[in-house]
Amino acid sequence: MPRLPLSLAKNLLGYLLALSSLSKATSVFEPVGLALGSQHSVCGSVFESFRLNQSFPLATLDYGHEVAGYPFFEVESVHGHVQVEVKYSEEAIGLNHNFSDGPFPYAVALANTYRVETYEITEPGRIDAFLLQGGQRWQSIRLLTDGEVVFTAVGFVPSIPVVDMDDLPGTFTSDNEMLNDIWKLGARAAVASCVESGTQKTMWEIDEENGAFIRGMRAGTTPNGTFFENYTLEFDTKIQSGGIGWTVAFPVASPARGIQLNLVAEHQPFVNANTTIFRPNSIIFGYGYSFVNVTTLTSWHLDTFEVPFSVRNNTWYRIKTVLGNGHLAVSVDNASIFNVTLGDYNIGESRIPGGSIDTLGSWGFGGWQDQAGHFRNVVVYDSASGTELYRNSMTDASAEGVVREYGVRTNYESVCLDGPKRDRLAWLGDFLHTVRIVGTSTSRYDLARGTLQLFVDWQTASGLMPYAPAIGYDPTVSSYEFARGGGRYFEKNEVYGIILPDYQILGVLSFAEYVRRSNDLGFAMATWNHWADNVDWISEGVNSTTGLLSLFGAFLGPSEGGAAINCAFVEALRAMAQVAVALEKHSDAGRYDAMATSLAHAINERLWNEELGIYGLSPSQMDEFSVSSIAFCVTSETASPQQAERFISALSQLRLGPGYKDSSLSNSSDPETNLSPNTNGFLLLALMQQQTPEISSVALALLRSLWKPMLSDKRTATGASWEYVNQQGKPGLGLFTSLSHPWGGAPTYILTEWMAGIQAAKNREGFGYEHWVINPQIGMHIGLKEVRSKVVTAFGGYLEVHWRIVATDMEVVILAPNITSGIFKLNGFEKRLSGRNRYMFSVAI
Ligand SMILES: *[C@@H]1O[C@H](CO)[C@@H](O)[C@H](O)[C@H]1NC(C)=O
Ligand SMILES: *[C@@H]1O[C@H](CO)[C@@H](O)[C@H](O)[C@H]1NC(C)=O
Ligand SMILES: *[C@@H]1O[C@H](CO)[C@@H](O)[C@H](O)[C@H]1NC(C)=O
Ligand SMILES: *[C@@H]1O[C@H](CO)[C@@H](O)[C@H](O)[C@H]1NC(C)=O
Ligand SMILES: *[C@@H]1O[C@H](CO)[C@@H](O)[C@H](O)[C@H]1NC(C)=O
Ligand SMILES: *[C@@H]1O[C@H](CO)[C@@H](O)[C@H](O)[C@H]1NC(C)=O
Ligand SMILES: *[C@@H]1O[C@H](CO)[C@@H](O)[C@H](O)[C@H]1NC(C)=O
Ligand SMILES: *[C@@H]1O[C@H](CO)[C@@H](O)[C@H](O)[C@H]1NC(C)=O
Ligand SMILES: *[C@@H]1O[C@H](CO)[C@@H](O)[C@H](O)[C@H]1NC(C)=O
Ligand SMILES: *[C@@H]1O[C@H](CO)[C@@H](O)[C@H](O)[C@H]1NC(C)=O
Ligand SMILES: *[C@@H]1O[C@H](CO)[C@@H](O)[C@H](O)[C@H]1NC(C)=O
Ligand SMILES: *[C@@H]1O[C@H](CO)[C@@H](O)[C@H](O)[C@H]1NC(C)=O
Repeated sequence: MPRLPLSLAKNLLGYLLALSSLSKATSVFEPVGLALGSQHSVCGSVFESFRLNQSFPLATLDYGHEVAGYPFFEVESVHGHVQVEVKYSEEAIGLNHNFSDGPFPYAVALANTYRVETYEITEPGRIDAFLLQGGQRWQSIRLLTDGEVVFTAVGFVPSIPVVDMDDLPGTFTSDNEMLNDIWKLGARAAVASCVESGTQKTMWEIDEENGAFIRGMRAGTTPNGTFFENYTLEFDTKIQSGGIGWTVAFPVASPARGIQLNLVAEHQPFVNANTTIFRPNSIIFGYGYSFVNVTTLTSWHLDTFEVPFSVRNNTWYRIKTVLGNGHLAVSVDNASIFNVTLGDYNIGESRIPGGSIDTLGSWGFGGWQDQAGHFRNVVVYDSASGTELYRNSMTDASAEGVVREYGVRTNYESVCLDGPKRDRLAWLGDFLHTVRIVGTSTSRYDLARGTLQLFVDWQTASGLMPYAPAIGYDPTVSSYEFARGGGRYFEKNEVYGIILPDYQILGVLSFAEYVRRSNDLGFAMATWNHWADNVDWISEGVNSTTGLLSLFGAFLGPSEGGAAINCAFVEALRAMAQVAVALEKHSDAGRYDAMATSLAHAINERLWNEELGIYGLSPSQMDEFSVSSIAFCVTSETASPQQAERFISALSQLRLGPGYKDSSLSNSSDPETNLSPNTNGFLLLALMQQQTPEISSVALALLRSLWKPMLSDKRTATGASWEYVNQQGKPGLGLFTSLSHPWGGAPTYILTEWMAGIQAAKNREGFGYEHWVINPQIGMHIGLKEVRSKVVTAFGGYLEVHWRIVATDMEVVILAPNITSGIFKLNGFEKRLSGRNRYMFSVAI
């Protein structure tokens, strides 16, 4: 492999280029706008030092765009009793809600679960929040008491790279401002979502005497109890603030929800304590992800039990939680607080036999907003026999044993999350758009590689990759539990093959795209067998009679022989074959190509509906089709040019509001039917590849209708691409919507590749842009007059194009490392370019 050291050295150069733009970074995120009053206001003026008092109790702070980090406050003076409630939100309206745009209890995500936090301020000086606020544009600070406080500075210590969006290594600017701003959406989302190792800090503090100090959060759960049931959990706890929370019978893998418990202290330190739900001197019993419903994360507040004595702060209590015989019993210091029959609480949960609460699953520690306390001397034993199953003093700070086990350890691996605010997990299938965006904008291939490494680290022996690995757990000790710990519903089956199994395909594609763009053959070689095993797992789903792939389920559409998953697999196989060629693994390459060819043949034989000119959604739904089937059947070239043209002409039937609905089966009259910038992004790529004037204008219309709403209203715009858009062009999942989701950012790479026209050549030759194509056809079709764009190559510098239309000519300047070569293409004109660092010419149009 003589190429390896060379290409690695060149990759390093790319990173250095990328990093050089970081040097201009400011060290903190500061607000750009401030409004004072008694109501929230988005009409702030320039930030300056401000006072909160009875006349002006509320400050609304605008950071101008998505920011992320650890909040800080510089207090100049304090008079009287001062408590302030601070809220964080991506969407401005979140500040009007009791829980702002949270909470986010889906997973332990190395960030504050809650979007509201309260501070008592007694003296001037700086306050630094311990917990991360993952992503927001807006913040509010409300004075809750009758004192007065002056702030001189407020902001965030960054947890994400601080970069100047106008000075990224990859760029795109044109004479169309809207397109320039749309290009930045995906780039900013990737900047905010791809985080360096060690930047999302450890959430628990371990004390050798008092054990784990835990601030209110979605419980950190140990995988060690994943397969335990009917057990008793005992621990010591000392409340520091408000109360403490714990969970039992809690699966670590999805669906990760279970029994929720909370011990509420008599003294509530903050005047805004929610005593409606958290009644002082009581234990709250709930089930689900939390005690409150958050969109699809259903939760139940089932009961409240009075504790017959004062629950004091700063006092140790031993809490015993007994699961067994269908009962749940809790005692505090030997005083029984309750003993209930779980079957009496019907949560109507169809996934659990009998609809009642299961006792299978692990335990964890956390708490509600503004709560905090210590936990130590955890012992677990079988309720019936008394056999000890687990013991942890929680006092071992030295080896990070506790924080590693409970999944609250800082991220050792650099990783691209789905979004900085919510879904702070590395979703396997959602990474595909991200890696393409990284390649054309931030060039942070180091962070993309970390993400792929994380998948490999969690891979199971059967070849499955995790669909969404958590960032704070250690795969070397908890892989088995996360793969099989989905509770009784999944019966120790590998959940990765059941939940979103087509994400395996998109994961393979992401790996191949990473290698194609970065030319990081070293990583490709080191992890090749892992991806090859993964492909083998997927191909086991190919039915030998029909030749079509079937899986247990699919995000992209029907799983039984579905067109979208089959076409996506054709694309993944062909992409893997190219990587194999680059690694000189020619027999693998031949095998993957042969598999792709026979799969494409089966798709054309069994799924093409000649009469309607579409690929049927699946063999049993031959008259239906989807955005994803159009996208992947076209981009994988399973469709011939004629088939592609006919299929795309059916697209208008999917038009809904600002975009295209996922499938012809989606209910257009249901206001809940959302538009997905993720699937519409895959579609956009298929449209671009047609290169006709008609389809180019369809693509431009889609860019305008689906992506412009992300820019146009400061109350919802974060400068980053969104997760879902509703039919009115608003965030599709309400306040829960991630407004910084790279999966919605496809235009970033599409504009660079198809409007500016900077493309890597096809096949292995194009890896790292060693050979390239400059093809500004579509940019010209849609009427752009001038475009400048560049990408980082793996060959020692940028590939840059500047073209402009002057009268009837296109004037072109191309800069490229002289060891690379390429072709300029326009209207059938082709010009071969090689051996120079700069090319200048003009073409009649
Ligand atoms: C609050 O502070 C403002 C100046 O920031 C001042 O004009 C106003 O009188 C104060 N109100 C009270 C009730 O102290
Ligand atoms: C208190 O909790 C209840 C129940 O979850 C919730 O509906 C309400 O909005 C909360 N109130 C505040 C002020 O947070
Ligand atoms: C917010 O909390 C207050 C006080 O608990 C309650 O009256 C109100 O209904 C809550 N609002 C929402 C939207 O839950
Ligand atoms: C602890 O509780 C006492 C009252 O029992 C109260 O005076 C004190 O402020 C509380 N401390 C904290 C940190 O909440
Ligand atoms: C959450 O929603 C479910 C219905 O979907 C309801 O049964 C339950 O009571 C709700 N939980 C809370 C805490 O309001
Ligand atoms: C746990 O308890 C339930 C209810 O009594 C029982 O059905 C189940 O078999 C028990 N599980 C084990 C592993 O003992
Ligand atoms: C609880 O009971 C056990 C056994 O009787 C006893 O050893 C222990 O000291 C008691 N704990 C408390 C806090 O009273
Ligand atoms: C709870 O009640 C059940 C039924 O009365 C009983 O079998 C069980 O021992 C009790 N559990 C505890 C911890 O007291
Ligand atoms: C939890 O499991 C891991 C892996 O098996 C083990 O190393 C660790 O010691 C266990 N923790 C406890 C407290 O037993
Ligand atoms: C393969 O497809 C055929 C035809 O649809 C079906 O009858 C058969 O059950 C499938 N085989 C498997 C193993 O799923
Ligand atoms: C489509 O949605 C509308 C509005 O929610 C509903 O009334 C109708 O029943 C739905 N149709 C189908 C087929 O589900
Ligand atoms: C290629 O470019 C480098 C600098 O970028 C230069 O040193 C070298 O002489 C060039 N080679 C040729 C053959 O032009």
